[in-house]
Amino acid sequence: MSSIVVEGGIPLQGTIGVLGAKNAVLKEMISALLAPGRHRLTNVPDIVDVEMMCQVLEHTGCKVSQGEHELWVVVPQDLNPEAPIELVRQMRASIVVLGPLLARVGVARVALPGGDDLGPRGIDMHIKGLEALGAEFELVHGELVGRIDGRLKGAEVELAFPSVGATENLLFAGVLAEGVTTIVNAAREPEIEDLIAQLIAMGADITGGGTSLVTIRGVDQLQPVEHQVVPDRLEAGTYAIAGAISGGDVTVTGCMPDHLRMELRKLEEAGCGVERGEGWLRVKGPDRPSAVDFATLPFPGFHTDMQPQMVALLSVAEGTSVVTENLYDSRFKYVGELARMGADVTTESQHAIVRGVSRLSGCPVVAPDIRAGAALVLAGLKADGVTQVHDAEHIDRGYEDFDGRLRSLGARIERS
Ligand code: EPU
Repeated sequence: MSSIVVEGGIPLQGTIGVLGAKNAVLKEMISALLAPGRHRLTNVPDIVDVEMMCQVLEHTGCKVSQGEHELWVVVPQDLNPEAPIELVRQMRASIVVLGPLLARVGVARVALPGGDDLGPRGIDMHIKGLEALGAEFELVHGELVGRIDGRLKGAEVELAFPSVGATENLLFAGVLAEGVTTIVNAAREPEIEDLIAQLIAMGADITGGGTSLVTIRGVDQLQPVEHQVVPDRLEAGTYAIAGAISGGDVTVTGCMPDHLRMELRKLEEAGCGVERGEGWLRVKGPDRPSAVDFATLPFPGFHTDMQPQMVALLSVAEGTSVVTENLYDSRFKYVGELARMGADVTTESQHAIVRGVSRLSGCPVVAPDIRAGAALVLAGLKADGVTQVHDAEHIDRGYEDFDGRLRSLGARIERS
């Protein structure tokens, strides 16, 4: 286990470029399964989750090779339709292989992911949606076994909640299904729009990407393509808050500020100076932020994966903020670690009351997951003295060289 050690008190200055989005590239690797042949992805971040997804694809029989921020997936005609528990447990996104494997092989065996640090995380909408397209499922010794008789058949599926993963599984199933599939209340995240762009380039017939109503006309086959992964709005937002909390001035390039509209608006409300242009944004931290209330919601609402970083900022604000988490049951577990640094945060079911304090005090803390781990490092940028964030591997799942990149902005930060 490694730790990130950060000495607080230095306002970050400078420019940082972001890479492709973790939550797009993982699914764009999976979508390769839909078409035999050689696929290429560019703007690929060098993160642990991409490594793990390479293993998932290799288990199905693909050959994966990587270069500097790019990777190639060679998909065979015959796939092994299985994702084993060792891989699914480490990375829940593996559940999204269900759609492509059912479409290509007619059978899929995927270990049931179970819960994780963010809560129970059901997959009922994935299952119900795929059943509507003709799949049948049974649970056999912890493994979900899906089968279809013949070919998947298009259907209308109305999601009870705009689930990112369920929308993706239905897109994958629908593109090779017979007839028309409509997804009502589909997720509208930019990563889904980017995935749809990749699928269209592969020959899929999809309309309504980026809206709540997606229509897919099934085709007989798809071709491999080259695709550039959309910039990571979470990486961009995290570096923006690093600038804000440290009282610095950080410019983020290679990003799409429109994908962070709500998060940037909340930073402005907190007193940050925010400028943006095509492909860049700049955030200047105030002497002391002001309290701001916000609630996490599916896109275009405030992203749940930016909630811990924003709470870190609000923990040193003037005044009291009320934060409501609407996506996950257990996303406030990290506030105990923030409290060790002197933050005053109390939680009551899905609400957190953040009473801003004038200073944080560095100490050893433990990263419970990717985003909370990043948030604890950001708190360390502001805290007096030294903060050691243990279990930093969580951060490496979603951020390439997090400590090195913060160091390039002037942070006193090291890996131990
Ligand atoms: N849910 C159900 N049943 C379902 C599907 C989802 O109850 O069938 C619930 C989940 O338990 C969760 C909520 O709905 O409480 C949202 O789930 P969603 O399916 O939208 O999320 P996901 O596909 O599992 C992706 C990202 C998450 C991100 C969410 C929300 C990937 C690999 N993961 O997860 O990212 O928080 O969308 O935007 O794309 C992260 O990057 O740190 C991360 C956790």
